[in-house]
Amino acid sequence: MGFQLLEKKIYHLSLSVQKQKSVAPGYWVLSLQSPQISSAAAPGQFVLLKIDKNFDPLLPRAMSIHSIIRADNYRIGFTILYKVVGKGTRLLSEKRSGESLAVLGPLGTGFKLSHIASGYEPIIVGGGIGIAPLLFLAQELMERSYTPTVFLGANSQEELLALDEFESLGFTPKVSTEDGSKGVKGMVTDLLGSYLEDSKGLQAEIFACGPAPMLEKAASLAKSYKLNSQLSLEQRMACGLGACLGCVVKIKNKNSGHSYQRVCTEGPVFNGEDIIW
Ligand SMILES: Cc1cc2nc3c(=O)[nH]c(=O)nc-3n(C[C@H](O)[C@H](O)[C@H](O)COP(=O)(O)OP(=O)(O)OC[C@H]3O[C@@H](n4cnc5c(N)ncnc54)[C@H](O)[C@@H]3O)c2cc1C
Ligand code: FES
Repeated sequence: MGFQLLEKKIYHLSLSVQKQKSVAPGYWVLSLQSPQISSAAAPGQFVLLKIDKNFDPLLPRAMSIHSIIRADNYRIGFTILYKVVGKGTRLLSEKRSGESLAVLGPLGTGFKLSHIASGYEPIIVGGGIGIAPLLFLAQELMERSYTPTVFLGANSQEELLALDEFESLGFTPKVSTEDGSKGVKGMVTDLLGSYLEDSKGLQAEIFACGPAPMLEKAASLAKSYKLNSQLSLEQRMACGLGACLGCVVKIKNKNSGHSYQRVCTEGPVFNGEDIIW
């Protein structure tokens, strides 16, 4: 079933799992075949997965679209990269090829790319499971003939996600780990800060997803170097369609100082300058 919400095409489909692959302890990549959702999706958008047909867990779980699967240049499906943190994600990790999931999507407002001009350098910054939506973004930027600079961070080499997938697209990500087991020891925003300092005057835009402190630091670096930033936020979600107001965040507003916007509809991607932390 598909329906139109404003100008967006959203599908509610029962999809069967194509593949489920463990990529690190507690981290999985799930592949789902759906020409409809993958064709309608833009980087930064997400899907809601109803993991169990029964009542527990009752609410669907939000997952970013990690990458697009193609065959003969047609979009035929998508993957999600996820971390097991509770009951829903544990049950999801137990799904095997052929089992079905109810999927609603693509949802939300993703990264805005239409204003990116030639000569601009897109800078992708991902931390931890926040790397999930950024591979699709890199795929899309490449298709538009941009070559983003990619920064990936994690606690340790074991938890550094999607490095091989970025490398197979031809990127050489700049890597940091907090324990120093891979790349530079420290936070990914330290690496980003050094890069921006060494490249002063760069025409660039920062696209980031990760834990809130990382995003806040990325927004502040962008401001210091007079760059625009687009940050993907997370909130617990229920309806995913803008109806329950369960996912609001505080966003600056020219008239009244601030307003509340819905991560599931106006977001998950917001302008870094507008977010009230
Ligand atoms: C737009 C969006 C995109 C997302 N994309 C991804 C993704 O690509 N990969 C991925 O692994 N996860 C993603 N998440 C987070 C994912 O939805 C939650 O991890 C998942 O719902 C947890 O379900 P659970 O039943 O396993 O855990 P629960 O038992 O519901 O919760 C376990 C723990 O996780 C915390 N938690 C649950 N949901 C969230 C949330 N939305 N944000 C922060 N903390 C949460 C809870 O507070 C609790 O501490 C995304 C969330 C949003 C809102
Ligand atoms: S989850 Fe219901 S309004 Fe966002």
